[in-house]
Amino acid sequence: MSARKRPEELRSHRWLGVSDLRSFGHRSRLRQGGFDAPDWAGKPVIGIVNTWSDINFCHTHLRARAEDVKRGVLQAGGFPVELPAMSLSEPFVKPSTMLYRNLLAMEAEELLRSHPIDGAVLLGGCDKTTPGLIMGAISMGLPAIYVPAGPQLRGNWRGQQLGSGSDAWKYWDEKRAGRISEADWAELEGGISRSYGTCMVMGTAATMMAIAEALGLTLPGASSIPAADSAHPRMCASAGRRIVDMVWDDLTPQKILTPAAFDNAIRVHMAMGGSTNAIIHVVAMARRAGLALDMQRFDEISREIPVLANVRPSGEFLMEDFFYAGGLRALMAELKDTLDLGCLTVTGKSIGDNIKGAEVYKREVIHPLGDPVSSEGATAVLTGNLAPRGCVMKPSAADKRLLKHRGKVIAFEDYNHMAREVERDDLDVTPDHVLVLKNGGPIGGPGMPEWGQLPIPTKLLKAGVKDMLRISDARMSGTSYGACILHVAPESFVGGPLAFVKTGDEIEVDVSARSIHLHVSDEELARRRAGWKPPAPRYPRGYGALYSEHIGQADEGCDFDFLAPLGAIPEPEIH
Ligand code: FES
Repeated sequence: MSARKRPEELRSHRWLGVSDLRSFGHRSRLRQGGFDAPDWAGKPVIGIVNTWSDINFCHTHLRARAEDVKRGVLQAGGFPVELPAMSLSEPFVKPSTMLYRNLLAMEAEELLRSHPIDGAVLLGGCDKTTPGLIMGAISMGLPAIYVPAGPQLRGNWRGQQLGSGSDAWKYWDEKRAGRISEADWAELEGGISRSYGTCMVMGTAATMMAIAEALGLTLPGASSIPAADSAHPRMCASAGRRIVDMVWDDLTPQKILTPAAFDNAIRVHMAMGGSTNAIIHVVAMARRAGLALDMQRFDEISREIPVLANVRPSGEFLMEDFFYAGGLRALMAELKDTLDLGCLTVTGKSIGDNIKGAEVYKREVIHPLGDPVSSEGATAVLTGNLAPRGCVMKPSAADKRLLKHRGKVIAFEDYNHMAREVERDDLDVTPDHVLVLKNGGPIGGPGMPEWGQLPIPTKLLKAGVKDMLRISDARMSGTSYGACILHVAPESFVGGPLAFVKTGDEIEVDVSARSIHLHVSDEELARRRAGWKPPAPRYPRGYGALYSEHIGQADEGCDFDFLAPLGAIPEPEIH
């Protein structure tokens, strides 16, 4: 570790520590806020980037938690400044939070750059807020610590535990099949989300918070603490104390985010049975750190690391149980022989140091490597003529019968077409059909909505069918399950082969061979391509137009082409 910084080397010194007309203005405005020289002089200014909002109930507590972070910053001799940032509320933001992940990343980066900030505490957790904040912080390059919002408490309905998303899909299908009543359904609505905090299954939020911890960007154990547990505000205050030292030590994300750290994170992702969405975000975060990670690395590691966390949708329990079982430190201790324990973390210590002494307290929740929850990996990356740049699947959450399957296609041109057709009682469909949805990709969706768990047609649901092979260029909620093949790249909207699939074609998938094949000759595909008309652009102006012009495909992490490259951006002039 390099020598500790001196106060005049702080970035904020340029704003506050010099004697000129501009710094007079900065200091007089701080005094306007009721602060005085002892509040800031010679102290690191810590930006608390907070994604709290009145309409993001996963982050309700972050308003108060920012105060806990401030308490820690003050205790350690820093000057805390809260900077509100866009809150990507997964249930409410339309058409998809993924459309705005990069906007949040840009906002976080530019908030830090444009203000007199020396180090950052990032408060997020609801799905895209984790990668958005981290991508921005990596690109800015200041010392940063991530504070995960933590999962909400278990859901409850008539004594049964409910999992976010997963049980909504399950009981929606029960209602469609006529097995529960409208009144039951209305009652479920009040029991499935009982407290602030993120979804409490192993969805994208829990996965990404765990990945942030495995990368070394959070305090040890932080990602598993339920939002409503008193350990959570204590963790926030600790993060506030720790970031001040990180600034003096100049411990930046670049020093933490090595290829080995990303391998550790992918191993943890597999052992958690994590969300397929994480693949896109991890690729994007690694590329921001200048590392050439691609989807194949997920596939390679998925063959080595089985699912150990018995958490829905791959398992039975919920994140609250995972915390009581020892949390992520315990899971990482189970994996320790496969991890690079020397990786540096925000604590200034190694991952190995951080997990020392961690134990599993409930074996039914965190299994040992020798007795996994599922030997099917959490992620398979398939390629073939239908997905030349790859597509992904979560074999651990699929009916095993469908892991090797050939069937006739029913193709839907877009979401609305699909939504109408699956309700038809006369739809010519069997459980062996392959449902294909087009125009759900990064540009076509737009924003790759979570449409990838196509509904089982009502006619089959009523007959008790629970799973079918489904293929799309969309994403799937991490709370979803089923034999869903996602992220087909390139997407259909830009003329990927998925655009040319027709009802009646046959598709063959062999997950163990990692292959996906459309049984249509090259000549016929070329003929269909020649007759294809690209759809009109989705947006005539505004952010959507910028997004459509610069967004990468799923295999590239869906980052903007102008954000992904490395290269120092000059510090703002102060005059
Ligand atoms: Fe916020 Fe699921 S809705 S984490």
